[in-house]
Amino acid sequence: MYKLVVEGGCRLFGEVEISGAKNSVLPIMCASLLTDDDVVLYNVPDLEDIRVMRSLLERLGKEVFFSNGTMVIKTKTDEPYEAPYEIVKKIRASIAVLGPLLAKRKRARVSFPGGCSIGPRPVDLHIKGMRILGASVKVEHGYIVAETDGLTGGLVNMLGINGTSVVATENVMMAATLASGTTVIDNAAMEPEVVDLANFLIKCGAKIKGHGTNTIIVDGVKKLKGCEYTVISDRIEAGTYILAGMMTKGEIILKNCNPMHLVEPINVFRQMGAIIEIINSSSILVKGIEKYEPVNVTTLPYPLFPTDLQAQLMAVLTKARGISIITEKVFQNRFAHAAEMNRMGADITIENSSAIIRGVEKLYSTTVMASDLRGGAGLIIALLGAEGKGELLRLYHVDRGYEKIEEKLSKLGAKVNREKSELI
Ligand code: EPZ
Repeated sequence: MYKLVVEGGCRLFGEVEISGAKNSVLPIMCASLLTDDDVVLYNVPDLEDIRVMRSLLERLGKEVFFSNGTMVIKTKTDEPYEAPYEIVKKIRASIAVLGPLLAKRKRARVSFPGGCSIGPRPVDLHIKGMRILGASVKVEHGYIVAETDGLTGGLVNMLGINGTSVVATENVMMAATLASGTTVIDNAAMEPEVVDLANFLIKCGAKIKGHGTNTIIVDGVKKLKGCEYTVISDRIEAGTYILAGMMTKGEIILKNCNPMHLVEPINVFRQMGAIIEIINSSSILVKGIEKYEPVNVTTLPYPLFPTDLQAQLMAVLTKARGISIITEKVFQNRFAHAAEMNRMGADITIENSSAIIRGVEKLYSTTVMASDLRGGAGLIIALLGAEGKGELLRLYHVDRGYEKIEEKLSKLGAKVNREKSELI
């Protein structure tokens, strides 16, 4: 296991290249199952989650080549239809092979994704969607077992008890591309990654309208062809580096990012007092200040403040003036990082789905542990803004979603090192 050793107190300066979006590439890799033609993807980050999804596609008969950000996906056989537990338990996004397998191969056997440290991760909306498209779906022995003689279009309401679902929207949209007739997805997720997937599918010959709004309409076609496609940049990685620049009172230029995907987060960061300039359509300048103003933020589906930046925002608010409140409306248990920040001297109280953050003068470095991807990123930001040398254990969580994090941070002037961890 590896840890990241961080010497706090260094101000970050310089330029950082934002990588391709993990949460775009993952569903698009699943969508490659909808065609036997070659698919070529550009701007693909080299991340653990991408490597796991690659192994799943290879189990499902694809041949995947990947180097220097370019991924080529070829078809060896379209017979296999099972996503096994040992792969699905590593990344929940594997559930997104369900729709493509049903649509193209007429059957699927996908291990039930377990919960994870950010709360229960139900898949009822995925199953409901497939049933509405005409599949028979059973859950037995920990597997979702689904089959169909051929999917048919339907009306799918994507609203669950916690709002809409990003990957369930993507799953149904993919399945609908080869269904006979028209599918309407109501209360669809509007995330940029959903739009990116739709644009990829359209390039493969799918007929999709309304992507990016809460009503997506798909007219099924007989067959999809392969294509070459460049995925969008990662708005969550970009937001993470903006907050690292703010925490360290530095000055960072983000390249290869899309400011339009960060409108709400930038509004919040500006309310806090950060100086943020949109240089052009693919770069952002952030200048940190001495002391930030408190804010009250609720995480909600796009285009509002993303839950995937919640931990990183919390880190910066631990040293802001006064009292800030973050209310987590998307996941039921996404505050594990708060206790670790309190061990660094922060003053955070959790009350139901809200974190009350009382600003303190200083954070003090120590050994902290990541329990999920974005919580780990939040703790790195806390360590960057703390006094002394600290370390983040279970770095593998962060490696799932941040490409070359120690290189990118070191290039900005951070004193960070990846080291083997004797502990865990
Ligand atoms: C996607 O997860 C992202 N992952 C998550 O990013 C992100 O946090 C999340 O959307 C919310 O934006 C990918 O895109 C691969 P949801 P997803 O289904 O689709 C409930 C990261 O850090 N729900 O939108 O799995 C669910 O419990 C990851 O990169 C149901 O009730 O999330 C949650 O409370 C973490 N029934 C809410 O919906 C379902 O069938 C939103 O979850 C599905 C979900």
